[in-house]
Amino acid sequence: MQTVFIRLTCLLSCALVALGTTSLRAFSADVMNRPSAVEGHALARKLCMGCHIVDDSDDAVAQVGPPSFASIANKSGQTADRIKGAMIQPHPPMPDMQLSNQEMLDIIAYLESLRTNKQAPSLSPPKNDSKPKLPKPG
Ligand code: HEC
Repeated sequence: MQTVFIRLTCLLSCALVALGTTSLRAFSADVMNRPSAVEGHALARKLCMGCHIVDDSDDAVAQVGPPSFASIANKSGQTADRIKGAMIQPHPPMPDMQLSNQEMLDIIAYLESLRTNKQAPSLSPPKNDSKPKLPKPG
């Protein structure tokens, strides 16, 4: 009788633990899936700073040639798709970084934060918008 009771408690607590971890995982996945400018900044400092000026920190040293992140972000007509294209199809000397989609979205989120013209349309328009928004005239 006691064994049955112990087994039952064990079953119950195991189920609770399983339930707990699943919802915790779902929660953290939700948070992790959001493009994060902070992550993008860290990635860019790690992977891109050898060639591009990524931010205005003191250690920013770049080769002559590659556009700074600020100029990439503020280039007129710039879009997330263009930036993604440059990351997916690298051109020499830019190496193929094998970035994951999440990493690219984070880097784009960081670039978005460098936009100085807040009137300009967002690099990546929100996806849950059912109707595409037309740019404002003028
Ligand atoms: C080895 C040097 C090097 C590294 C590392 C590098 N890039 Fe570049 N990148 C370049 C050069 C050079 C260009 C300009 C190429 C051209 O104009 O044809 C460029 C161009 C770009 C462009 C296109 C800009 C535009 O609008 O025309 C983007 C976007 C870009 N890089 C993003 C990145 C990102 C993001 C990283 C890090 C994940 C990175 N690059 C790492 C050298 C590099």
